[in-house]
Amino acid sequence: MSKTVLILGANSDMAKAISKEFSAAGFNLLLAVRNPQNENEIAFDAVDFDSHEAFVKNLPTVPYVVVVAFGVLIEGDESFTKPKESLESTLVNYSGVVSILGHMAKPMAERGSGTIIGISSVAGERGRGSNYVYGSAKAGMTAYLDGLRNYLFKKGVHVVTVKPGYVDTKMKAHKPTPKIVTATPEDVAKALIRAYRSKKNTVYVLSVWRWVMLIIRNIPEFIFKRMSL
Ligand SMILES: NC(=O)c1ccc[n+]([C@@H]2O[C@H](COP(=O)([O-])OP(=O)(O)OC[C@H]3O[C@@H](n4cnc5c(N)ncnc54)[C@H](OP(=O)(O)O)[C@@H]3O)[C@@H](O)[C@H]2O)c1
Repeated sequence: MSKTVLILGANSDMAKAISKEFSAAGFNLLLAVRNPQNENEIAFDAVDFDSHEAFVKNLPTVPYVVVVAFGVLIEGDESFTKPKESLESTLVNYSGVVSILGHMAKPMAERGSGTIIGISSVAGERGRGSNYVYGSAKAGMTAYLDGLRNYLFKKGVHVVTVKPGYVDTKMKAHKPTPKIVTATPEDVAKALIRAYRSKKNTVYVLSVWRWVMLIIRNIPEFIFKRMSL
């Protein structure tokens, strides 16, 4: 029997490529989106916390793989000038993840198998002036996924944290980034399924990001605060 993958935020550009990759690998797809357009999609809103318990209970099966692909970007001066939108973005990027996985992890742990894959971000590795609200939520998401991995290890469920670096999606369409540090959604999908198969804990999609972030993490704060990063 085919295994099922649940993709949360299935309309994201990365999620579409991820769906194709899992479908090609023989998985059944459960596509969770805010506004379902056909019978293959199910309604899911990351910030409708009260609906999450029923959402999980009503799934036709306990998925073998769960991919968290939803998120909103808030960056530049907006982190400073738009406090309301900033708060709302943390509810999607952090609280929404904690809420839905809080409900989803239980039946997977009871079954004693499966993989949760969360798309976090390198933005969570150090607070930067250019995206400190988004980065703080992704830092929370990364720590949450890491802790969940360690908790669920003894229960047979694996957790993968994906840090894609820049990806050419609609989220970044307003601000083109250099090719050498920019992955395609297909690169993300391939890295993600490889990580799933090899039970990796954390993956950078383009390996250049491992080195970029090593440097960024190690710049002394008194220099870092003078930079425009
Ligand atoms: N693009 C990058 O450079 C980059 C880099 C690192 C990490 N990431 C992360 O990768 C993930 C996917 O990003 P992407 O670039 O593929 O973005 P995207 O194409 O802009 O997709 C974001 C998705 O999140 C969904 N979403 C937003 N708020 C939601 C809510 N309250 N409930 C449910 N779904 C919600 C959107 O749904 P609708 O379709 O209904 O609007 C959309 O489908 C995100 O977590 C993002 O933070 C992106």
